[in-house]
Amino acid sequence: MLAVYAARQSADDPLSGLEVGERPDPTPREGWTTVTLRTAGLNHHDVWSLRGVGLAADRLPMILGCDGAGVDEDGNEVIVHAVIPSDGWRGDETLDPRRTLLSELHDGTLAEKVAVPTTNLVPKPADLSWEHAACLSTAWLTAYRMLFSNAGLTPGATVLVQGAGGGVSTALVQLGAAAGYRMWVTSRDEEKGQRAVGIGADRAFANGERLPDRVDAVMETVGAATWSHSLRSLRPGGTVVISGATSGPNPDATELNRIFFLQLRVIGSTMGTRDELERLTRFLISTGVRPLVHTVLPLEEARKGFEQMKSGDLIGKIVFTR
Ligand SMILES: NC(=O)c1ccc[n+]([C@@H]2O[C@H](COP(=O)([O-])OP(=O)(O)OC[C@H]3O[C@@H](n4cnc5c(N)ncnc54)[C@H](OP(=O)(O)O)[C@@H]3O)[C@@H](O)[C@H]2O)c1
Repeated sequence: MLAVYAARQSADDPLSGLEVGERPDPTPREGWTTVTLRTAGLNHHDVWSLRGVGLAADRLPMILGCDGAGVDEDGNEVIVHAVIPSDGWRGDETLDPRRTLLSELHDGTLAEKVAVPTTNLVPKPADLSWEHAACLSTAWLTAYRMLFSNAGLTPGATVLVQGAGGGVSTALVQLGAAAGYRMWVTSRDEEKGQRAVGIGADRAFANGERLPDRVDAVMETVGAATWSHSLRSLRPGGTVVISGATSGPNPDATELNRIFFLQLRVIGSTMGTRDELERLTRFLISTGVRPLVHTVLPLEEARKGFEQMKSGDLIGKIVFTR
């Protein structure tokens, strides 16, 4: 089958190890099912895998991709949940110490077919397009859990999102605005900030700009480049929820004194459960919110999508179709 896979890894030149070509079909396994994919979504996770972060070299070649939507063996239209728990695990899959994401141990979704445990399927609502269904399992699910499970917010709260253009950032803005939060964003690019205002942000600021008020919570995926601004932007008792560190994991100063003196809460967040993914689909149907899609490309042209993501020149999600 046609697949997009990591053949090699390079920290400095990640796309040099990217291949688009033939890979074997998935092999059937007890308790698993094969989904014939209609669409798949690209995430920064796929670039990290090519850089050698989170994917061991001895697992190559590995089909990339965490997000996908398609038709299961019984003809049902489904969305694939990317968090694969270890055999016998019960409860929140994200807390299983031996859980993996698709494309870390098992082949991922950037292919014609993917095999997953039957428990990892969520029904695709008929009113959700294939393109939109392909955006949900990673960036949107992560944003949902950050905002609604981990931030401890109530409607009317003010929330700062660091970064405007990314998949997680745009999801945070759209979900938060729909839930009645006042969403502020920062961006390296004024135009992206304005696009964020167009999808529901109340205001956009330059990276590091002093805000007119302290916020109740900050949603952090940028890491080192914005960490100090995140802490300085919080009201006493406020919460920073962090799920990524695109610009690096080690800020110049961690400012522990600010954290304890202002009684800030720092909450780590990763992906979400299958049930949260199903609730996310229901939230989209009841609110009418749909993911902002930057580009739709045939799977054969996946390299173009990876180039856009690596350059940072995007706003919203990149989707591949079959
Ligand atoms: N823990 C999890 O479960 C989980 C799930 C999803 C994603 N993540 C992580 O979260 C991060 C974002 O993922 P994504 O898929 O949304 O990636 P993406 O689409 O490539 O977005 C990157 C974002 O980072 C901002 N950014 C990048 N470099 C920056 C810098 N030097 N200074 C300021 N802003 C910068 C961009 O904002 P502007 O271009 O607007 O400035 C953009 O919003 C990645 O590191 C990813 O691995 C983690």
